[in-house]
Amino acid sequence: MPSSKKSQLLRIGVLGSGKGSNFKAILDAMADGKLDVEVTLVGTDIAGAGILDHAASAHLPAYTCEKGAYKTKLEPEIEQALAEALLKADVELLVLAGYMRVLKAPLLAAFPNRIINIHPSLLPKFPGLEAWRQALEAGEREAGCTVHWVNEVIDGGAIIRQRSVSVLEGDTAESLQQRIQVEEHLLLPEVIAGLANGDIPWPSKSS
Ligand code: GRF
Repeated sequence: MPSSKKSQLLRIGVLGSGKGSNFKAILDAMADGKLDVEVTLVGTDIAGAGILDHAASAHLPAYTCEKGAYKTKLEPEIEQALAEALLKADVELLVLAGYMRVLKAPLLAAFPNRIINIHPSLLPKFPGLEAWRQALEAGEREAGCTVHWVNEVIDGGAIIRQRSVSVLEGDTAESLQQRIQVEEHLLLPEVIAGLANGDIPWPSKSS
């Protein structure tokens, strides 16, 4: 399509490995007129992941990676194929919404400083898995979620925005996780909207 006919909206790709409630929050914000972007590809590393159902309901194109040998990363050629699919879809911002593999060179090089992630803790505290449980076990009074730029350090890129929740007396890992997810569903669309309308600055591609 000639570039003059391309949508003027920010083109995003969304990657997820799980139920896709954060992706659903993006779709809901779009439907409510709170977020004006175009989702040009939804990708997953897990065949049958819930995020694919949301993509299908919204009639959005989806891509499922070939099954690899590892749980925590994709083989370079599988990640390269995913990166190429996202580039072909003209993705300008890649959103990790519950994508559970560590990103390697193929995606990082294809989208330098153009990938954001939602993480269920107030980074830099508690990077890694089950961050809500880590916060609870550490006796934190406050927990929350963070959207940050993605680089080669796991959950270590520049923080964009956070939302916090109080840790309540009697909280279990599950109850705390649920309250954090409520905030995630507000935070992620808010950040994407801020990037789309220029309220949130974009880093240079080479920084
Ligand atoms: C979210 O809690 C997010 O913080 C973490 O993975 C979870 C994904 O949930 N990175 P969902 O698939 O969006 O429901």
